[in-house]
Amino acid sequence: MKVTIIGGGGRVGSCAAFALQCAGLITEIQILDANKDLAEGEALDLLHGNAFAGEQKVYAGDYARAADSDLFLITAGLRRKPEESRLDLINRNVALFVQILDSIKAAGLRPEAQVFVVSNPVDILTHLAGQRLGLPWPQVYGLGTMLDTSRFSSLIADELKLAASQVKALILGEHGDSMVPIWSSASVNGLPLAGLRECSPGFQNAVFERTKGSGAEVIKRKGGAGWAVALAIREVVHAVLLNKKVLLPVSSLVQKTYDIADICLSVPSVVGRRGIESQVEIKLWPKEQMALQQSARALKETMAKVRL
Ligand code: 2OP
Repeated sequence: MKVTIIGGGGRVGSCAAFALQCAGLITEIQILDANKDLAEGEALDLLHGNAFAGEQKVYAGDYARAADSDLFLITAGLRRKPEESRLDLINRNVALFVQILDSIKAAGLRPEAQVFVVSNPVDILTHLAGQRLGLPWPQVYGLGTMLDTSRFSSLIADELKLAASQVKALILGEHGDSMVPIWSSASVNGLPLAGLRECSPGFQNAVFERTKGSGAEVIKRKGGAGWAVALAIREVVHAVLLNKKVLLPVSSLVQKTYDIADICLSVPSVVGRRGIESQVEIKLWPKEQMALQQSARALKETMAKVRL
C-alpha cells in the first residue's frame, strides 16, 4: 500500500510516518509538504532508520508523484491556539485545505483511492473532502474521535490502575467540544466499568472533562499532539490495509445512523479494505443518543458558516 502524507513535514504527519514505519506494513510512504526542505528532512531521517525498520520506500515527493497513492493522509493545517476551539480554526484552515484537495484532483487520483483526513476541524474538513473530490463516501473518512477514544481509555486506565489494553471506553460525535462519552458500553476486559466502585459519577465527569481538554492541554505544554495521534492514525490505516473490518469511531458521512444524516462525525464504523464498510447503530442510553444528535446539529451549524 502506498500512503502519501500531505503535511508530512509537520509534527502529526511525521509522527504518523514514524508509527507506520515502525510497524513495517506499509510498503511506500511519500512525505509531501508545502515546506519542501522539511519534507526532504523528514523523509531522509525516516530512510536512515530503514535498516532496522523494514524495507518500505520512504521519500519526499509532490502531487504528481502522489497520483498512484492508495491512501492520501492529510495532516496539514495550522495548529489550534490553546484557548481556541477546533471549530474556530475553520476559517484559517478551510482555504488551505481546499487548495490541497484541488491539488490532489489536478494531479489525478485513482477511482479506488481513499482520503483520510486528520487536519482540524476534522469533521468539517472530512465533509468538504467528500464534497470536493467526488469519491464514494466510504472512501473519505476522518480520524474523528479515535484520538479522544484513546485518550479517554488511557486516562481511565491510568487513574484506576487498570491495563489500558483492557479498558474500552468510546467517544462518539464531534472531535471537538460536543464530543460524547459512551459510558453505556465502557468496560474493562468485558466487565462494565460502571460496576467499579471507583468509577463514580464524579470520577466519570472528571475523566471525561480531562479527555475533552486533552488537545488544548498538550498544545499548551508541547505545542501539539504527536505520539498518540500517530498511533490512532496507524490503527485506521492498518484496518484498511489488512481488511480488518474492525469497529472504530472514525468520522464519515453519516447514513441515517442514529437518525443523523448529511454531516460527518464519528459513529461506530466497520473499517476495512474499502474504507468505511458500514456504520453500525448499536443501542445507546437515551441521553447519549440525544447528545450525539446535538453534536450533529452543532457541526451542521458550523458547516453552514463555511465559506469556500
Ligand atoms: C488533538 O490534539 C490533534 O486535534 C488533535 O486533539
